[in-house]
Amino acid sequence: MTKPESGAQQVVVVTGAASGIGAGIARHAHARGMAVVLADIDAAALDRAAAELGGALTRVTDVSDSRSVHVLAELAFDSFGRVDLLFNNAGIMRAGFLWKLGESDWDAALGVNITGVVNGIRAFVPRMLDQGGAGRVVNTASVGGFAPGPMMSPYSASKFAVVAITECLQMELSMIDAPVSASVLAPGPVVTSVFDNPFGAVSHPAVDRMVTQMRELLDTDGLDADTFAELVFAGIDRGDFWLAPQGEHLDTMVRQHTATILERREPVIRQSFR
Ligand SMILES: NC(=O)c1ccc[n+]([C@@H]2O[C@H](COP(=O)([O-])OP(=O)(O)OC[C@H]3O[C@@H](n4cnc5c(N)ncnc54)[C@H](O)[C@@H]3O)[C@@H](O)[C@H]2O)c1
Repeated sequence: MTKPESGAQQVVVVTGAASGIGAGIARHAHARGMAVVLADIDAAALDRAAAELGGALTRVTDVSDSRSVHVLAELAFDSFGRVDLLFNNAGIMRAGFLWKLGESDWDAALGVNITGVVNGIRAFVPRMLDQGGAGRVVNTASVGGFAPGPMMSPYSASKFAVVAITECLQMELSMIDAPVSASVLAPGPVVTSVFDNPFGAVSHPAVDRMVTQMRELLDTDGLDADTFAELVFAGIDRGDFWLAPQGEHLDTMVRQHTATILERREPVIRQSFR
């Protein structure tokens, strides 16, 4: 586990902390006695999440805006003097037929899911390196970042990118023998609102089948955010680079995708959609 040299209270920053997985991580960190900084674009939900913790430092943040993330970093370092754990967790889904998704869908998904992670790394890592001592940056990808899903091209592309960026980050941190490490967080199905209405007004029988399968998967296999957070922290305690609390979902994705490449087959429509 990451520990400040002094043994002082650990400081955790979570983006997308107002709901779902981010809120679960914030609750778990708070329950462990860590100081938590909550960031989200949704001000009202952020206030509710902070109130649930009995008060926490919050900052309305748009992770796709580098200035906004730099202000968040300044707030965290000015308030606590250090950051031990950064969760670049905020993420959004844009779904639909690739040829029908608009520029704004692509800009939104890539802006939050990729640029948001890069902004977090650029704003926090230099200061985490300067502060000395161990630290960790956890970037939320998805098991869908290991095998693309139809109708989810911006999401798939962005989550593949998060995996690659995090692997690069870890390699570069180890090149300089930094005490700071990185982790890829690859959730399988977790019961949150991220997939509530992924296809909007898109209407097609193939889409209806996908929505039904996604709902069934969430009902049968979906973890609640608190159980998920507990498993995430267990992985962090072990120092895992690959944080995959639902390892069977990740392994299925990796095997299927790798097989299509090694066997030079066409991409298959997988049975699991995240
Ligand atoms: N729930 C799942 O099954 C699942 C599976 C795989 C990956 N993930 C990933 O987990 C992460 C969290 O998703 P979730 O399921 O908790 O969804 P969620 O919708 O409940 O939470 C996402 C949070 O991010 C915030 N957000 C959106 N845009 C933002 C922005 N520009 N700046 C700051 N905050 C912003 C939202 O307001 C929301 O509070 C995402 O990266 C998602 O892709 C989720």
